[in-house]
Amino acid sequence: MTEAVDTELSQKLDARYTLMEKLGAGGQGEVWRAHDETRGFDVALKVLTPKTREQEAWSALEHEYSIASLLDHPSILKVFPPERAGDSMILPMELAPGGDLRKLRGAGFLEIIPVLLEVSQALEYAHERGVVHRDLKPGNILFDARGRAKLADSRCSTSQSARWWQNQRHAGAANGQPRCARKCLHCRSSSLRA
Ligand SMILES: Nc1ncnc2c1ncn2[C@@H]1O[C@H](COP(=O)(O)OP(=O)(O)O)[C@@H](O)[C@H]1O
Ligand SMILES: [Mg+2]
Repeated sequence: MTEAVDTELSQKLDARYTLMEKLGAGGQGEVWRAHDETRGFDVALKVLTPKTREQEAWSALEHEYSIASLLDHPSILKVFPPERAGDSMILPMELAPGGDLRKLRGAGFLEIIPVLLEVSQALEYAHERGVVHRDLKPGNILFDARGRAKLADSRCSTSQSARWWQNQRHAGAANGQPRCARKCLHCRSSSLRA
């Protein structure tokens, strides 16, 4: 993190959020811990500053929010509506400051199985509502401050009820496989999903 980036982003966020620390960076942009002055608690902010394809980036955030908002479960990370801040776009999320499942690599089954049970229950809940996550990996299973698992990152998810899903079926499912190609910047750039 450079001071210039910190200051510039802070200015764009104005008084709405107070930036605290950078939590990481992923396929779409950076993730920051911030205090949400309106909601009155700390959140994680995914920050995107696209130089091109701005509308696609915004649609991806809207998609992530729309899927997450279908789900209300203690083991599924909450997501708030995306916002614009100058030339950046932000997606406020529930803060999960306890790291991710990768930290349990090499741990014993007594530690791992309770986490897998939490994740299984979250997936069952989502599937019952027609939502398929489609990016299940240790890095997307976060932990909150009390060590409870939080299934994160619904940007590749599909929902039977979303019009987006209907489009995907027409656009990319000739072989019967649902694809996350047109609106998801992350999947489109990943050869694993080609
Ligand atoms: N809600 C959150 N709370 C805390 N850390 C988060 C949260 N969301 C993402 N992170 C962290 O930010 C980093 C980037 O996340 P993400 O944008 O989902 O990346 P990726 O493309 O690798 O899935 C990861 O290291 C992740 O642990
Ligand atoms: Mg992720």
